[in-house]
Amino acid sequence: MQQVNLGMIGGGTVGGGVFKALRHNGALLASRIGVRLELRKIAVKAFDEPRSVPIPEALLTTDWRTVVLDPQVQLVAELAGGTTVAREIILTALRAGKPVVTANKALLSAHGEELFAAASAAGTNLYYEASVAGGIPIIKALREGFVGNRIERLYGIVNGTCNYILTRMKREGAEFADMLAEAQRLGYAEAEPSLDIDGHDSLHKIGILASLAHGFWVSPRHIHVEGIRGLSQWDIQFAAQLGYTIKLLGVVKRLDGLARPAARGSGPLVQVAVYPALIPNTHVLASVNDAFNAVFVRGDVVGDTLFYGRGAGQDPTASAVLSDLADAALDLKHGTPSRVPPFVPHERAGAALPIAQAVSRYYVRLSVVDRPGVLAQIAAILGRAKIGISSVFQPEGHEGESVPLILMIHDAPNAAMAKALGQMGRLRVVKAPPVMLRVEQLE
Ligand SMILES: NC(=O)c1ccc[n+]([C@@H]2O[C@H](COP(=O)([O-])OP(=O)(O)OC[C@H]3O[C@@H](n4cnc5c(N)ncnc54)[C@H](OP(=O)(O)O)[C@@H]3O)[C@@H](O)[C@H]2O)c1
Repeated sequence: MQQVNLGMIGGGTVGGGVFKALRHNGALLASRIGVRLELRKIAVKAFDEPRSVPIPEALLTTDWRTVVLDPQVQLVAELAGGTTVAREIILTALRAGKPVVTANKALLSAHGEELFAAASAAGTNLYYEASVAGGIPIIKALREGFVGNRIERLYGIVNGTCNYILTRMKREGAEFADMLAEAQRLGYAEAEPSLDIDGHDSLHKIGILASLAHGFWVSPRHIHVEGIRGLSQWDIQFAAQLGYTIKLLGVVKRLDGLARPAARGSGPLVQVAVYPALIPNTHVLASVNDAFNAVFVRGDVVGDTLFYGRGAGQDPTASAVLSDLADAALDLKHGTPSRVPPFVPHERAGAALPIAQAVSRYYVRLSVVDRPGVLAQIAAILGRAKIGISSVFQPEGHEGESVPLILMIHDAPNAAMAKALGQMGRLRVVKAPPVMLRVEQLE
């Protein structure tokens, strides 16, 4: 049987998982693809680092270059993380003509175009299934499974930490800070949690999915991001009373028929954003709980599809890396390094819609003084902005002198809504900054 020699950079959570999975399932994988993967060396930062999966010292080195540039190594897995050394590792391997497998969404988000160009220039390939939604094969689905579709909608719950916190807030009626502390205690959240809870990890992933789906590389600068830090138990409860669940959602919407900003491509206009949104309890995404991820994709030929699974962790991520290693090994076996290129720009480049122009429905929570005439002042502001109210709800509850007032708002442009909220916030009868969340009906 043919053999492909693998060099790995990183023997931590993901690298350790790949090492373990190759031990357990390497023979099975070889029997399926007709190629045996031989792990020759693993580069780490320090020999004496405690590892969840012990790796024999004979396999380890602290010099990644000796792995990447070893003439015996034909295939490189970058599982170190970060955006500086990892970029150098990948570029060095690609320039040496070696295919690379990576799990590094932060790096792809920042330098994806440069890395894909380097792979193409060197006539080799870059695989990145593990960079989005862990064990869920969503990259393969978009690159291959849906190759004959225009992607009309993509919604992703792609950050397990946030989904875990939101699930527990809903189930237990607990506040955000308490559930974050619990997630940190259980190892679901980092000690420095901002990458997850402020939405940036989701942004990296949703940017990659949007780019693949629409054939133009979506810069992180064009992705609007809001995290879950500001969510209160009140909003979780009031949303539930109205039949909704709040999820941190990555949103990719193809918008046909909208006027495009001048000089911005001729392909589709696409809204790409990450924000906490109210979604109907009846939609399947509302049942994606705990640390699970899910990606909903609507193609113009296939219709609605849903991918569900563990979005992070040692074994699910290793599963995605193994899939990429198998593809790269098959490319080497058949001499077809670019059979499925990492990213192909579509002929008609699209453009990302600025959030100010995006249109959505909204949930607005106001803290108002409990007296007649208040609603009329608020309705007047919305009326002047030509924003329609679809329903008004005054739940039980007091916050000092004020009471909550919930407005559900019809489709309105973000910019108009933001301006109206600013005006509401300045009313003397409104006692706290208004809270605004988007409502996604997912229809
Ligand atoms: N953890 C997950 O669930 C998950 C899921 C999807 C994607 N990812 C991505 O996978 C990548 C790796 O994450 P991880 O969780 O496995 O990280 P990790 O546990 O911190 O492991 C990183 C590994 O890289 C090694 N390393 C770091 N810098 C190095 C250098 N300059 N030279 C050689 N080795 C170096 C470290 O060595 P030492 O062992 O000596 O410290 C360690 O073995 C990241 O890009 C991450 O975003 C992770």
